[in-house]
Amino acid sequence: MESPFKPDILRGKVALLTGGGSGIGFELSTQFGKHGASIAIMGRRKNVIHDAVSVLQSLGIPAVGFEGDVRKPEDARRVVEATVEKFGKLDILVNAAAGNFLVPAEDLSPNGFKTVMDIDSVGTFTMCHQALKYLKKGGPGKDSSTGGFILNISATLHYTASWYQIHVSAAKAAVDALTRNLALEWGTDHDIRVNGIAPGPIGDTTGMSKLLPKEINDGGYETMPLYKVGEKWDIAMAAIYLASVAGYKRNDPHC
Ligand code: COA
Repeated sequence: MESPFKPDILRGKVALLTGGGSGIGFELSTQFGKHGASIAIMGRRKNVIHDAVSVLQSLGIPAVGFEGDVRKPEDARRVVEATVEKFGKLDILVNAAAGNFLVPAEDLSPNGFKTVMDIDSVGTFTMCHQALKYLKKGGPGKDSSTGGFILNISATLHYTASWYQIHVSAAKAAVDALTRNLALEWGTDHDIRVNGIAPGPIGDTTGMSKLLPKEINDGGYETMPLYKVGEKWDIAMAAIYLASVAGYKRNDPHC
């Protein structure tokens, strides 16, 4: 599908994406790169990172991959700093790394619950925290006129309740709270825009194959309002809008 955006709408931007080597994260890496951004990918699996970077580079996108676990603050710091060392600055942080599995609450151990909270919620906060000094207005490598952008990928599970997803529902609710609170504090203090996207079921992703019933994975969309699931491209286009100069900008009352 053709992008509705100008191909250079993210030209000159440097984006770091956790979970950027697969699924929705990789589509964002690809589309951000196709629209002019330089891309750094962080993930736990060396081979996934390597393959993803090779694909991006074959498309002519400046791309680098770093192995790392968002649960480890030392990894978060190392990857953020390595990104800035490679590309000179950081404009965009996308938190797309997530963990998930279906399990009834009574069979889920507290450590299983904590594992997903650690990846999705604490990991998102850790990455934001490590990236703050580079994303803030006037941060290293940035001009003094504008701050950077954080995009947190959430979900819709927690809007009501979802079978066998208590851990992820709690974790994504926390991610949404982080998004709102950082948008308030860092938007005001540092001119950093913080937005979230909460995809529903998205085709051709691990989440879809791992979490949804076989009938839906087999194309039985009768229960879906639009008789289809979303596409990774849909999420990437929404992300480009938010990340771009066209996106939701601060109006500075002092100008
Ligand atoms: N059902 C129930 N509990 C599970 C589980 C499952 N399918 N998978 C892991 N757990 C529990 C473990 O039992 C363990 O708890 P315990 O110590 O009380 O036994 C805890 O979670 C940690 O498991 P571990 O395998 O050590 O975690 P990990 O860090 O290696 O793996 C996961 C992280 C669990 C999130 C793993 O599913 C993963 O990495 N998935 C890939 C990414 C992904 O899921 N993406 C989905 C996008 S929607």
